[in-house]
Amino acid sequence: MRNFDETTITDAVLERVRNAPDLRQRFVSEAIVRHLHDFVREVEPSQKEWAEAIAFLTRVGQKCTDTRQEFILLSDTLGVSMLVDAINHRFPGNATQTTVLGPFHVVDAPEFALGDDISGGMAGAPLLVEGSVSSIDRQPIAGAVVEFWHADAEGFYDVQSEAGLTNLAGRGVVRTGAKGEFWFQTVIPAAYPIPDDGPVGDMLKAQGRHPYRPAHVHFMMSAPNCETLVTHLFLADSEYLDSDVVFGVKDALICELETQPAGPTARGNWISKDMAALRYDFVLADADR
Ligand code: BEZ
Ligand code: FE
Repeated sequence: MRNFDETTITDAVLERVRNAPDLRQRFVSEAIVRHLHDFVREVEPSQKEWAEAIAFLTRVGQKCTDTRQEFILLSDTLGVSMLVDAINHRFPGNATQTTVLGPFHVVDAPEFALGDDISGGMAGAPLLVEGSVSSIDRQPIAGAVVEFWHADAEGFYDVQSEAGLTNLAGRGVVRTGAKGEFWFQTVIPAAYPIPDDGPVGDMLKAQGRHPYRPAHVHFMMSAPNCETLVTHLFLADSEYLDSDVVFGVKDALICELETQPAGPTARGNWISKDMAALRYDFVLADADR
């Protein structure tokens, strides 16, 4: 077959991928060809615009390093990460809502004991985080692995500093106690712009958008027979709750900070100074839902 034109090229490419041995591969290949060709038909890019699009994607790839994932930023800012998240988490009503992972999660972050200060010397007002983990039938989960990470009071993650992965702070892992409880001490994170000194930042500017996320703490939780939960808690008094650049905010994840004087805490722990307190009871969906 030859002499393809704009009315015949799409079917020709679809025909070419029809023999993919793997059915899922075939389905995905056909869909991407159809949608990409439809996009080009709708936009009718000039040759110059198409070359610019390819140069943009090339810059996105070139910007990626061990601690900078520009493709995740692109997916996040186009709302694709939250769409994939929504499709994959059609959870039962009482399971905790999910949101984006983001590019600042670090595998093998340090383990802490319950109650430790995990701020690693980050500057900021003291914050107590007290929570629990249970299953959807309200059984507390002991020994659940709770990972957390957050920005500092200036809005920067540890991995964004010169020291990168060698000076981790404001992140860690704890395991829940016998009643599914966990707690740690840290500092209040600020709202921040996602890294916008690369091609994704250029795209946001061209689209007339700001690069900010509201203040939040990230969590990732896992336990046997449960779906791993990736979520954040957003601070209720933060700016940008209604215009998060990555579309990640859900009402059920917005928390008012409480005031916790030094001494015994509302959840039976003990702290040596006055702190703001962030409290939340997380519910993990069953793995076999
Ligand atoms: C974050 O919350 O860490 C994040 C999420 C998406 C893009 C950039 C940062
Ligand atoms: Fe974040």
